[in-house]
This record gives sequence, C-alpha cells and structure tokens, in this order.
Amino acid sequence: MAKSREIRNVAIVGTGVIGASWAALYLARGLNVVATDPAPNAEANLRRYIDAAWKDLTALGISPNGSRDLLRFTPDLKDAVAGADLVQENGPERKDFKIKLFADMDAAAPKDSIIASSSSGLTMSVMQSACKYPERCVIGHPFNPPHMVPLVEVVAGAQTSPETVERAISFYTSIGKRAIHVRKEVVGHVANRLQAALYREVVYLIEQGVLDVADSDAAVCWGPGLRWGLMGPNLLFHLAGGEGGIQHFMEHLSGPVATWWKDLGTITEFSPEVKQTIVNGVLREANGRSIAELERERDSMLLELLTTRSKAEEEAHAGSDAAAD
Ligand SMILES: NC(=O)c1ccc[n+]([C@@H]2O[C@H](COP(=O)([O-])OP(=O)(O)OC[C@H]3O[C@@H](n4cnc5c(N)ncnc54)[C@H](O)[C@@H]3O)[C@@H](O)[C@H]2O)c1
Repeated sequence: MAKSREIRNVAIVGTGVIGASWAALYLARGLNVVATDPAPNAEANLRRYIDAAWKDLTALGISPNGSRDLLRFTPDLKDAVAGADLVQENGPERKDFKIKLFADMDAAAPKDSIIASSSSGLTMSVMQSACKYPERCVIGHPFNPPHMVPLVEVVAGAQTSPETVERAISFYTSIGKRAIHVRKEVVGHVANRLQAALYREVVYLIEQGVLDVADSDAAVCWGPGLRWGLMGPNLLFHLAGGEGGIQHFMEHLSGPVATWWKDLGTITEFSPEVKQTIVNGVLREANGRSIAELERERDSMLLELLTTRSKAEEEAHAGSDAAAD
C-alpha cells in the first residue's frame, strides 16, 4: 500500500464557534493552518478567538513548534484547501449546503488528503454523495470547545475507506485528542445521544415534580457526573461490583437496573410548561452570574481536571514503561 500523506497542513473551512477553536488547537500543535470563511470580519474574529484561547492552550501545554504565526487566512475556499493534508470542515449545518461544500472541497483539495466534517447532525453518507473521491471523507465530530475537550467521534460514510478512518483516528490521537470510532452511522453520532438520553430523564423528573431544576443539576454534577469525568459507566460498574467486579455486577445488580429502565420517562417533546419551569429554574441557579462568568468558572475547573487527568496518564505510562524495562 502507498505511504499515506503525513498531516502537516490543515485547512479550516468555516471559522465560527467550532472552526475557530479547531484552528487554535492545530496551531498549538505546530501545524500549518489556512483558514477560510466568507463572513465579513471573519479573519479578525478568528484571530481574536485564537488569542483568547491561547491562555488555556498554554496552561494545557503548547507543542514546542506551536505558534499563532502558523495561521494564514484567505477568503477563497480553493486557495484554502489546495495544499491541505487534512481539511476540517465547520460550515453551517444544512444538508444541501454541506453536499455542495463537500463537492467543492473535493474538487479543490489534493485527492489523497482527508476531508473531515465537524457536523453534529448530518451523516457522511449524505455529505459525500456528490464527491468524486468520497473515500477520503469522514466525520470528525468534536465537543465544544475542541481546543479543550478531548473527545472526537470518527464516523465513516457508506463510501468512506477504512484507511481514511484509521488515518483520521491516528491523526487526532497524535495531537492529543481522544478519538473514538463510531462503527455505524446513527443520528447525532453517539455522545450527543448519551446526553439526550440523560436529559430526557432530567426533563421528565422535573415535569413530574420529582425534582426542581437546581436539585436535578446537583443530582448529576455532585454525584455520578463527578465520576463520569474520570471513568465511563462500564468501568465504574466494575467497581460497583466490589471484589467480583463487573461479573458480580451483571449477576446481581443488572436486574434492578433493568427494572428502573422500565420506569424511565419516554417523553418525546418539551411541553411549554416544562420549558418555562427550566428557564426560571436555571436563571435562579445562575443567581445573577453572566454567561461569560459561568463559562470562566466552567473552563477554569475543566482545565484543572484535564491537567490532573493528563498527569495521571503520564504517570501510568511511566509506570508501565518501567515495568516493561
Ligand atoms: N456549536 C457547537 O457546539 C458544535 C459542536 C460540535 C459540532 N458542531 C458542528 O460544527 C459545524 C459548525 O457549527 P458552528 O456552531 O461553528 O456554526 P457557526 O455558525 O458558528 O459557524 C459556521 C461558519 O461557517 C461560515 N460559512 C458560511 N458559508 C461558508 C462557506 N461557503 N465556506 C466556509 N465557511 C462558511 C459562516 O460564516 C460561519 O462563520 C456544524 O456542522 C455543527 O454541527 C457544532
């Protein structure tokens, strides 16, 4: 098999909320970034975003060759993608728009480059449908903001090659992302579905008068949510099984969990009343703190958590390397 293209040059197509954050991350990892967006002031807004994000990226660790000087902006899509090894697409979330955008990027990007889409809700099978080289198109769906939150979901479309999936996962991993392979196309990929499943029950419990809004948030963030930031539900239930681990959990505790499943709410829409209850409750919970203040609170704690996690992972690797010596 021919050696695949090394990824040094990245094109960012669309520099809104998600594209700007990806651009900041790629620059911090020492990649050459060419960004494009037709919006007026797009370049100034992008540079402002990157400057603001650089403080958190510095705290998380900039690569030795990472630099904001590696950014070039062009309003021209063809110019942006012409020399790209990987294109990260972050345009508006509209089906027909993305199909056309993918066809345009496909025509202008080197044919052995990867074209990854950040799309949260569209499938790659749809977006790649008008491409001449659809095998190199893949979903690389981040969590906001991608320069801080490690998860990226990699999903193939019907015409995507397995090699593209492998290359995308190994690229994202090489820059410190936590890439997962979603093996089948499902609406909303996976992480948003998990959020939606939990949120359905939160809304149901508020609607039923079981909890008020603040207590429903506390029930998540001061209990299971604290643990979910460290280990996933399967590994945590290994611990819930005591000495017998997950085997014991499955034998003795899976029954009660399945009983609770039968009682979960199955609502499929927000009633006007529950919407208003949640709006009132959240404003009480925010207690006058602005969105910007709440974001700062969240991000400073997130930074501490990410630093703690990467230190723990480094120590675990150092331990296993020493054991292998
Ligand atoms: N916002 C989120 O939390 C989030 C999270 C994960 C993924 N996503 C996905 O990321 C993508 C972008 O979402 P967003 O929230 O950043 O939207 P956004 O509206 O902030 O940004 C979209 C950008 O695309 C630009 N654009 C319009 N036409 C273009 C063109 N022809 N070429 C290049 N750029 C063009 C717009 O000017 C705008 O700056 C969507 O597919 C969305 O599903 C969003």
